[in-house]
Amino acid sequence: MELKQMVGIEAAKYVKDGMVVGLGTGSTAKFMVDEIGRRVNEEGLSIIGVTTSKNTEKQALELGIPLKSIDEVTAVDVTIDGADEISRDFQGIKGGGAALLFEKIVATYSKKCIWIVDESKMVEKLGAFPLPVEVMPYGSQQLFHLFEEKGYAPSFRKTETGEMLVTDGGHYIIDLQLDVIEDPRTLGKYLDELVGVVEHGLFLDMVNLVIVGHENGPETLTSPY
Ligand code: A5P
Repeated sequence: MELKQMVGIEAAKYVKDGMVVGLGTGSTAKFMVDEIGRRVNEEGLSIIGVTTSKNTEKQALELGIPLKSIDEVTAVDVTIDGADEISRDFQGIKGGGAALLFEKIVATYSKKCIWIVDESKMVEKLGAFPLPVEVMPYGSQQLFHLFEEKGYAPSFRKTETGEMLVTDGGHYIIDLQLDVIEDPRTLGKYLDELVGVVEHGLFLDMVNLVIVGHENGPETLTSPY
């Protein structure tokens, strides 16, 4: 079995009857949503899903998972999502699938967050994966130049046909090639304060449980957060 599928199925075990469940985005989360859909249909599992992207919403609707928006629920019991990189101290980069804004909103209002990754995503320090920054289109060239001046090697995320990628929230993404992020907190605060930045892909102190897929089975790591 593919590692991404293994962790998707493992994470779905944390979903219990009556829960409101945040459904992440990406190729790993897709397996988890499939498994929850299977449990809804075959085992009569009764949950409400809160999706983090239009893609996941489409998948969940096709599977018949009942959905509500984040604004229609009082809280989310557990959110299960993928990640692009996770450092040894349980900090993460997300947004490779361009869904970081909705993912961060749903994760923020969740009682518990679980990330599911194959072992290639576990790193010593964050930064080899380009850090996505979601920005308002208005003024985005100015932010781009600012990031260039800072030496962040920015690039606008494009679609396969070379157009500017527009996120579900109607924004652009600028990817920063930082190589190593020595101090994610300071960088996160700096990006938070920039006018025109809507959100960034540093997910700090957010995850409670990480399920890592290895050839010999899933490994579950508990974070101090
Ligand atoms: C979506 O924007 C991302 O945060 C994904 O969760 C992340 O990119 C992991 O995706 P894969 O599971 O496809 O690697």
